[in-house]
Amino acid sequence: MTSTTVEAAIARSREKAASIEHEPGRHRMLTGDRPTGDLHIGHYLSSLRRRVAIQDRGVDSFVLIADYQVITDRESVGRIRDSTLSLLADYLAEGLDPERSTIFAHSAVPQLNQLMLPFLSLVTEAELHRNPTVKDELAASRRPLSGLLLTYPVHQAADILFCKADVVPVGKDQLPHVEMARVLARRFNARYAAGVEVFPAPTALVNDQQLILGIDGQKMSKSRGTVIRLAATEDETAKLIRRARTDPEPMITYEPERRPEVANLLTIAAGFTGRAPEALAEELGSGDGSALKNLVVEAINEGLRRHRERRALLADDRSQLLQVLRVGNAKAAAVAGETLAEVRQVMAMDY
Ligand code: TRP
Repeated sequence: MTSTTVEAAIARSREKAASIEHEPGRHRMLTGDRPTGDLHIGHYLSSLRRRVAIQDRGVDSFVLIADYQVITDRESVGRIRDSTLSLLADYLAEGLDPERSTIFAHSAVPQLNQLMLPFLSLVTEAELHRNPTVKDELAASRRPLSGLLLTYPVHQAADILFCKADVVPVGKDQLPHVEMARVLARRFNARYAAGVEVFPAPTALVNDQQLILGIDGQKMSKSRGTVIRLAATEDETAKLIRRARTDPEPMITYEPERRPEVANLLTIAAGFTGRAPEALAEELGSGDGSALKNLVVEAINEGLRRHRERRALLADDRSQLLQVLRVGNAKAAAVAGETLAEVRQVMAMDY
């Protein structure tokens, strides 16, 4: 994506956010996660809380557990059932409400997956190869490019378009996918529906918060053990934060470029306390790293106490979680079935 397309997407995102405030009932949200492991504080601060807020504002909501995306860049499904139920426990613990949000899994909605077929006809191989997110994932996976990795942006477009969502809360890295969904909506309408708007173009609701890093100041990594999971106990959280890297400077200041490790800790504390990182830094002043770490431990453990209590209860009852998921799957399948019927009709394939 060029910088002008990114700027345009950010401008649309602002307009959409304003419209959600004024007329929440006119919108539909779809967003989702890959079930590859437990959610962590980065997910919590940048996406989970926001989704719940949008739901609570009154926006009709769809939340996808993107299980087919797990096999885009890895050999096996891993502990997918555990990860799926863990994700669901976090969703419910934070307040996603199955009455107001349709929570479902990719693999359970064949009608959604079938939409991928006509959509695939609307892109060229060259366009797929240009997708920056696909390129990054390919580089990180160190495996040959699979057909699914190359085409999953089309699948993700089907995720968004099957329910005609107009609001897609995502991080900046996902912008190329939302752009793909916009292009596919437009092309479908033009090519197969004689210009009738079967699919409205969705808008990314871009999250422009500071990215939360691992305790070593680098991208979070499960294998390096630098991730703070929502499911971690208070003690585990304290131990991890005490191991966090800082720097030897005597004053605490918020300088993300120059002091990424200290800034990351301040960003975390700010996220959980609702205060500005600069103000927290000023208060700590000449305090050493350990005062900062105490503050962060306290902020996370306080901020997550209610979530963790509820999550523990929910995670214990796997059959109830599965039941919630089955209800969501059925609701999503009904919506996807209607869209697919419409698609077959405009394509004259409704025999
Ligand atoms: N690709 C997203 C991620 O890796 C997950 C996802 C799948 C998604 N389908 C989506 C996000 C549709 C938004 C809309 O996090």
